[in-house]
Amino acid sequence: MPGNSLGERFRITTFGESHGKGVGVVIDGLPAGLPISEDDIYFELQFRRPGRFLVSGRRETDQPIILSGVFEGRTTGAPLTIYIENKDIMSQFYEEIRYKPRPGHADLPYILKYGFKNWDYRGGGRASARETAARVAAGAVAKKLLMLHNVLIAGYLKSLGPIEVKEPITIEEAICSRNSPTRAPRKDIEELYEKEILEVTKEGDSLGGVVEAFIANTPIGLGEPVFDKFKADLAKAMLSIPAAIGFEYGLGFYGAKLKGSEANDEIVYENNRYRWKYNKAGGILGGLTNGENVIFRVAFKPTSSIRKPQYTVDLRTNERTTISVIGRHDPAVVIRGVSVVEAMAAIVAVDHALRAGIIPSVRLSKDQADKIEENWERYKKLC
Ligand SMILES: Cc1cc2nc3c(=O)[nH]c(=O)nc-3n(C[C@H](O)[C@H](O)[C@H](O)COP(=O)(O)O)c2cc1C
Repeated sequence: MPGNSLGERFRITTFGESHGKGVGVVIDGLPAGLPISEDDIYFELQFRRPGRFLVSGRRETDQPIILSGVFEGRTTGAPLTIYIENKDIMSQFYEEIRYKPRPGHADLPYILKYGFKNWDYRGGGRASARETAARVAAGAVAKKLLMLHNVLIAGYLKSLGPIEVKEPITIEEAICSRNSPTRAPRKDIEELYEKEILEVTKEGDSLGGVVEAFIANTPIGLGEPVFDKFKADLAKAMLSIPAAIGFEYGLGFYGAKLKGSEANDEIVYENNRYRWKYNKAGGILGGLTNGENVIFRVAFKPTSSIRKPQYTVDLRTNERTTISVIGRHDPAVVIRGVSVVEAMAAIVAVDHALRAGIIPSVRLSKDQADKIEENWERYKKLC
């Protein structure tokens, strides 16, 4: 099976290449009656958009067009297709890459698998993160549907290169990071991040970093034992993001250094419900959500396309050569990666909520649609 689709009940299929006519997504499995508009989808897309300070200079408006699946502002239950046109294409930057594959990018593996003549080298083709605009569009629909249970999903930039936020960040601060050009959770950190990026880009280099994200007000019991555990599906979704190199949740890799007595949490009974006192498991036990906030982190590598010359091979001669990548690249892909992480988390959460019957799979009632609209409006105004 090809790998362009994800999800069992909320099934997304993305299409499009970096320098083709556009990118988009087909979402199958949406219940009828969900109020959704192009403005709702754009609300999320604006936070991933290139052409802003400290991210790729590619000037894309990223205005989504709904091609199918909506009638009079509500989903019909038919596949919802969202299309985003590519407007600012400059393929001339990629002529050199055609014969000199970038050492940290997908160029050579794509050539070796699909053949040199079939490889769309312009802008990275299908391997380009332009495709993630389609994921964020689908994520907006997923986030809105999750408003039935007021589920909130937000990420922020926990570390950038050597700079790391050590103190705990609240979900509210993570949501408000959408207003920061570096997705920093606080102003003092934003200044440190900006300084670091400006210094590194001056040297023609790039930075990696870590996104921390939350799923709050998580319904209990998302996840299907044993292969479709919530942690397993979340990990797969996160590692499918271009440039993602690591995933952990709860105590993560640090937990492997602890003793059982230190890693275990304490179960308490408060306000008529069971709770885990310190949420060390990051909201997932036995592969099922336990009602605590899901907390996870995704590591991103430094952008591979850098101006600093690096060694590669010229495919015409097989001789060693250097490549200095010019073009409009993100100095740190992790910044725009935050929106993509949020979108993928929403896609996984809504898929499992449909599978568990927590969201109706056929049709939403008017009351449910009104509740979704009310919670969505509140979410949009949060910062
Ligand atoms: C939002 C986002 C933006 C990206 N922008 C760039 C970019 O400008 N230049 C680049 O070389 N890679 C960029 N990438 C990463 C590449 O798409 C990725 O490294 C490449 O497809 C190879 O895949 P891999 O790193 O997962 O192995 C970006 C990734 C994301 C998530």
